[in-house]
Amino acid sequence: MTGNRVGRVADKVAFITGAARGQGREHAIRLAEEGADIIAVDVCKDIDGVGYPGASEADLADTVDLVEKSGRRIVTAKADVRDLESLRAALDQGVATLGALDIVVANAGISGTPAPAALIKESAWQTMLDINITGVWHTVKAALPHMTNGGGSIILVSSMLGLRGGGYMAHYASAKHAVVGLMNSLANELAPQWIRVNSIHPGNVLTPMLDNESFCRTLRPDLPNPTVHDAAEIVGQFHMLPKPLIEARAISNAVLFLASDEAQYITGAALPVDAGAVAKF
Ligand SMILES: NC(=O)c1ccc[n+]([C@@H]2O[C@H](COP(=O)([O-])OP(=O)(O)OC[C@H]3O[C@@H](n4cnc5c(N)ncnc54)[C@H](O)[C@@H]3O)[C@@H](O)[C@H]2O)c1
Repeated sequence: MTGNRVGRVADKVAFITGAARGQGREHAIRLAEEGADIIAVDVCKDIDGVGYPGASEADLADTVDLVEKSGRRIVTAKADVRDLESLRAALDQGVATLGALDIVVANAGISGTPAPAALIKESAWQTMLDINITGVWHTVKAALPHMTNGGGSIILVSSMLGLRGGGYMAHYASAKHAVVGLMNSLANELAPQWIRVNSIHPGNVLTPMLDNESFCRTLRPDLPNPTVHDAAEIVGQFHMLPKPLIEARAISNAVLFLASDEAQYITGAALPVDAGAVAKF
């Protein structure tokens, strides 16, 4: 409940990975505003080989404060999506505290370091697949035994680069395309249990994944101290609409819709929230 209004996901419990900051935090806040309790996990550390800082435990604590402001409960755990057992432990504790599991948002991910395909290091390729597709699989695998509440909604976070290619991101685009195959297979398998499975495909979103020195310098080597808005002059060309960076809340609104009963007959769908990037020619 939000005030006297019945929320769009009232009294549901949502499990969100990568919830310490960025889009994952915003999904937690948005779902809580509409009445859900939250199980939030994040690795809360830097990832080897990724050229920008990871989230911190303080970031995850801020997510807790922001969710609690909306009057909902939140249980957190520090867990790496590469580690299935730590996700299982986080969920066991979360479901024991909050009583159920209805919504899963497999959001944790990395963008890695952009590089020409032939120069992508084997270790960078493997880390990308381990987090951005195996981590998504682990999230669902840990969650399914708890989804016994008579249905549910699973939302897998892909990218515009899960539906089209993009230069210097072969590892990222490969992992994000794989998310669609997993989504469609799970949707077919889980439909008889009224568990809906969809993927979302953000365009450029203003989060620490883009708003960091490494990303900005890679995109704008011509500037001494480039900002994310300088970098957006380049990546904004992906978008059809004249908006180079999308707010995280816009992605959260799509997550909320897919999680809610308004989307009760939507499953197996790949939903771009990308200012038209996938459809652009
Ligand atoms: N920002 C964009 O432009 C954009 C565009 C399309 C898709 N995405 C996707 O959206 C999702 C969220 O990204 P964001 O923009 O909020 O970036 P972000 O870097 O701000 O947040 C990602 C979060 O995931 C966590 N994380 C990373 N690896 C993890 C692991 N192994 N285990 C647990 N947690 C881990 C990080 O600590 C961080 O809190 C990602 O899957 C990303 O690929 C982002």
